[in-house]
Amino acid sequence: MPKTSAYQAKTPGRDGRIAYTPEEDAVWRDLCTRQVPNVRRHAARAYLDGLDRLDMPLDRIPQCADMSDRLRDLTGWSVTPVPALIGFGRFFGLLADRVFPAASFIRDRRHFDYIEEPDIFHEIFGHTPLLADPRFARFSQAIGRAGVAAQKEDYAWLIRLYWFSIEFGLTREDGALKALGSGLASSPTELGWSVSDPRPDRRPFDVIDILRTPYRIDIPQPVYFVLERIDDFFAAAERDLLADVAVARRFGLHPPAYPPAGNEDAA
Ligand SMILES: [Fe+2]
Repeated sequence: MPKTSAYQAKTPGRDGRIAYTPEEDAVWRDLCTRQVPNVRRHAARAYLDGLDRLDMPLDRIPQCADMSDRLRDLTGWSVTPVPALIGFGRFFGLLADRVFPAASFIRDRRHFDYIEEPDIFHEIFGHTPLLADPRFARFSQAIGRAGVAAQKEDYAWLIRLYWFSIEFGLTREDGALKALGSGLASSPTELGWSVSDPRPDRRPFDVIDILRTPYRIDIPQPVYFVLERIDDFFAAAERDLLADVAVARRFGLHPPAYPPAGNEDAA
């Protein structure tokens, strides 16, 4: 996440709902019009099943309360609006409680194609379909629990695991690469790049390797990790992730696979 935001958080009214303007709803609609065909082509079945099950509105910004009602029935998760940027301690605590913190503003048309910080399109369209999958939901909670038990200096290590799985993970279906992560599902440019461009390095999903891999948030990822079976998230969720962080620390970070500068290894 960038350290500052040009956008103001939207505050829910007394009924818990956020009043979006017609233009904000129109941005959501236009983003969905562009991105639904892309995810149908490139996203993993787990994501598409969640998208179908949640049946979110495509013509107006969904309310977190409504998405929560649907998610609770499926995996026990809910979504709560938060300011665009929250601290890691609060972030991990919410995940541990199966609450997904969602930035509530939507990008304006200047940032239609690319926005560095998460907005409601990324949070709802990108994340909630995957949180409807019990395997993905369990692993998300496991990262939150590890974060709650972690020392502050471990946060950056755990966030790498979150980044390369929940946000930018890949998987394989019938031999074909598919995008699994939420950052890919909500990105018109990186979604296709992640699965079909020959340039990125695509490595097997290995927790220690992931923890040791630095990233930049402001470029298409030069490295992805491929989970062969989404069921493998169950095993990953049972690991002692803080022990894994200790091992990764001993080995140290890999050299970056990208040029320096930008928001290096920020989450
Ligand atoms: Fe995200």
